[in-house]
Amino acid sequence: MDLKSLIRDIPDFPKPGIVFRDITTLLRNPEGLRYTIDFLAQKCIELEISVDCIVGMESRGFIFGAPLAYKLGSGFIPVRKKGKLPAAVHRIDYQLEYGTDCLEVHQDALHPGSRVLIVDDLIATGGTASATATLVQKIGCELVGFGFIIELRDLQGRKYLPDVPIISLVEY
Ligand code: PRP
Ligand code: ADE
Repeated sequence: MDLKSLIRDIPDFPKPGIVFRDITTLLRNPEGLRYTIDFLAQKCIELEISVDCIVGMESRGFIFGAPLAYKLGSGFIPVRKKGKLPAAVHRIDYQLEYGTDCLEVHQDALHPGSRVLIVDDLIATGGTASATATLVQKIGCELVGFGFIIELRDLQGRKYLPDVPIISLVEY
């Protein structure tokens, strides 16, 4: 299936010069959605990635991470933006183009030694994925890989990620 044909390009969103890769058109397509999750799961199986839990980042990482966890028979753990999680959290601050941002995960959600696959819809600069990787590794988890639907190659985000398998299904 041609996944790229199901992803809509929106020029100049959210600001001039950015081409926004809109996955809502893929999500509303029943065959496209099923194929995406099955394809991601198949790649994990081919690479013999053994997973205890999937960590997905707010918000689009939730959409793909949870069904992938279901398919692989693992748990799903949300990494959220500041102040959204109700129990005690581990936090990581990270640099954006201008200023900083923060991601949080529940302290009792991840345990040292757990094999973690990080899932998001898209990798651009790699800032979100690399901060999540640092958070997960600081807790003592074993990072076993990354799964993305979309990779924006020009931005070279993967070079900021640890040396583990990086799956992406569609490249721009
Ligand atoms: C988008 C996307 C990734 C991140 C990628 O999320 O879903 O999480 O940006 O960019 P990076 O590789 O440069 O870090 P966004 O922060 O827009 O949040 P959203 O999913 O809630 O829209
Ligand atoms: N997140 C960061 N860059 C993006 C882009 N070009 N399209 C969709 N989501 C993004």
